[in-house]
Amino acid sequence: MLELKNISYVVDDNGTQKVILDDVSFVAQDNELVVITGQNGSGKSTLAKIVMGIIKPTSGKVIYNGKDITNYSIDKRAKLGIAYAFQSPVIFKGITVKKMLEIASGGKLNINDACTALSQVGLCARDYIDRELNSKLSGGELKRIELAMIVARNAKLNICDEPEAGIDLWSFDALVNLFKARKSSYVIISHQSKIIEIADKMVLLKAGKLEKVGTKEEVMPLIAEEKCARLKV
Ligand SMILES: Nc1ncnc2c1ncn2[C@@H]1O[C@H](COP(=O)(O)OP(=O)(O)O)[C@@H](O)[C@H]1O
Ligand SMILES: [Mg+2]
Repeated sequence: MLELKNISYVVDDNGTQKVILDDVSFVAQDNELVVITGQNGSGKSTLAKIVMGIIKPTSGKVIYNGKDITNYSIDKRAKLGIAYAFQSPVIFKGITVKKMLEIASGGKLNINDACTALSQVGLCARDYIDRELNSKLSGGELKRIELAMIVARNAKLNICDEPEAGIDLWSFDALVNLFKARKSSYVIISHQSKIIEIADKMVLLKAGKLEKVGTKEEVMPLIAEEKCARLKV
């Protein structure tokens, strides 16, 4: 279980204090799919970076399975099973898809697991396993290989920041299916209705503040209201 407790993040912006997150708290239970949404600039990516340990909150705590991990490094969090799912893979010259999946899994992946990961994202393992990761792969193929890396990594808690960005329709369905078939927790920043549809819980941020935590039925009307208000001004 992930618990964010009273998270605030304040930066110095040319001598003035800028509040980016203000007292944000919510919980992601085991195996839950939590969708964080909110307008551009509402603080979503900042919150994801705080969960990953890329930045530290000014105040508040990040608790994972009862342990205070607020001051843990990214590596230490990764060892606990927390993964930032869409870090673009660093592509080394000559590296194969199989090797990349093996690295993602922390070295504990056999050929069968690699094939399963590829077929789960709709790629024929026979065609891809020995392919070199390079510019000859299309954007869609690379995106699906990224998805296969999520499967191979098998993290307990996956953080995804707008995974729909730059994805083609076909891969988008594979992505939604991957989320549906999950056996672990996902915290996903997204505006996509197909992802919102499968959310167990939604978190709505507004100008750095927690507007609402609840079911999609509770949160969606507030988003509609926000949109209307924006249209009126
Ligand atoms: N280090 C920083 N210094 C100044 N402003 C920042 C910094 N980090 C983020 N911001 C600002 O905080 C707001 C929230 O950013 P972000 O978390 O990326 O929003 P979102 O992902 O919801 O679009 C934005 O207005 C952004 O420009
Ligand atoms: Mg963002």
